[in-house]
Amino acid sequence: MDKIVSLCRRRGFVFPSSEIYGGLGSAYDYGHYGVLMKNNVKARWLESMIQERDDIVALDSAIILNPRVWEASGHTQLMHDPLVDCRACKLRFRADALDQAQCGLKPSKHPGEFKDCDLTEPREFNVMLATSFGVLEESAAKVYLRPETAQGIFLNFKNVLQIARRKPPFGIAQIGKSFRNEITPGNFLFRTREFEQMEMEFFVPPDEADEWYRYWVEERLGWYTRYGIRESKLRVRPHEPDELSHYSQATSDVEYLFPIGWLELEGIANRGDYDLRQHSEHSGTKLEYVGEGGERYVPHVIEPAGGPDRSMLAFLVDAYDEEVVAERERTVLRLHPAVAPVKAAVLPLIAKDEGMVRHARALYEELRTRHMVEYDEGGAIGRRYRRQDEIGTPFAFTVDEQTVGDETVTVRDRDSLAQERLPIGGVQDWLEEALERPWKTPKGD
Ligand code: GAP
Repeated sequence: MDKIVSLCRRRGFVFPSSEIYGGLGSAYDYGHYGVLMKNNVKARWLESMIQERDDIVALDSAIILNPRVWEASGHTQLMHDPLVDCRACKLRFRADALDQAQCGLKPSKHPGEFKDCDLTEPREFNVMLATSFGVLEESAAKVYLRPETAQGIFLNFKNVLQIARRKPPFGIAQIGKSFRNEITPGNFLFRTREFEQMEMEFFVPPDEADEWYRYWVEERLGWYTRYGIRESKLRVRPHEPDELSHYSQATSDVEYLFPIGWLELEGIANRGDYDLRQHSEHSGTKLEYVGEGGERYVPHVIEPAGGPDRSMLAFLVDAYDEEVVAERERTVLRLHPAVAPVKAAVLPLIAKDEGMVRHARALYEELRTRHMVEYDEGGAIGRRYRRQDEIGTPFAFTVDEQTVGDETVTVRDRDSLAQERLPIGGVQDWLEEALERPWKTPKGD
């Protein structure tokens, strides 16, 4: 994980936030390549949810909702974690996970095990971040930054049913920021207090809920392997009954084997009719489906809920590789081309050669009309290749002396390092085809 954090910083994927002020615990800013890559992750998710299907529509709801939403959803009452403070080391721990926490005193042990530990009684702590809505402090209403995007979807159930004229089974998908005052944020992008979610609520007739639940578990697992994550590093783990969230009848996590162990990438939950019933009761608006023949029911909800930050971390971890080539070490991100931030690089061999630069610029201008492509003429060619390897660029086109004579370029494959010669006029089509080719990591299973 340290190597990933350092590469992300070195290459401008992710920076610690507010760094010149000493940072803000577990908050990160995405730099150029991080933005491009996270956008690719989100685009692949939206494609699979919306572009490739007929039964899901998109939504982008507000982050701050009427506070009554959180009473109805159960978050005000139930999104609590029991916490203990240690009066000796001044650290705060989750009372139900003391055995996984590290005591702040030396010799370091779990909190409560060291003779000087002085723990308070567990206290309830709501993980929703509060703020105030309104310009005058005295009259401003206390509101919350949403802890999940899902509730905005439930609130729009009726709009979609009526205006988009949908009938179950149908889904509503949304990507957006969520906020949680996590007690133990950490592991880089894995758990932060401000993060993005990719959530889809799929409304189904009650008697089809089990079937759709199983369907979405498989579907979501398949999405990660489709974009190159090794099957051996993924597993589905059904929740034990005592782990289930207050709304869930059944949940399975898609987990990834991170360097720190198996951790949740995404949860797929059968939320039953909990949310629509709660919002019907609290708002007085009936959230139900009425069929043409007059039959009515409250749909059940199957929810695949993931996050682009966490997915991006898994893609990075799975792609990271180091190898020795011709006695030189290289670090390479073996990313699926569909998630790689840059698809190709155009490199004139000699930056001072006017003919090479002219050809390279012309090729770059042509390729960038369709893809995210980079032009780089700075430094020795070996260093430029290594830079592209580290950001996971699948192909590099090198313009050399021969190009000026016969209008051909060399293409270098990031993974195999194989090189071949192509007519410069055919590069655009070649790249198009190469990016569409099925890709499998050379890291093996
Ligand atoms: N609506 C259901 C829900 O929010 P969740 O398991 O709490 O379920 C869903 O969150 C997904 O959101 C997680 O699987 C993860 O990908 C992402 N996520 C949740 N909390 C996060 C955090 N603190 N930092 C980064 N991602 C987070």
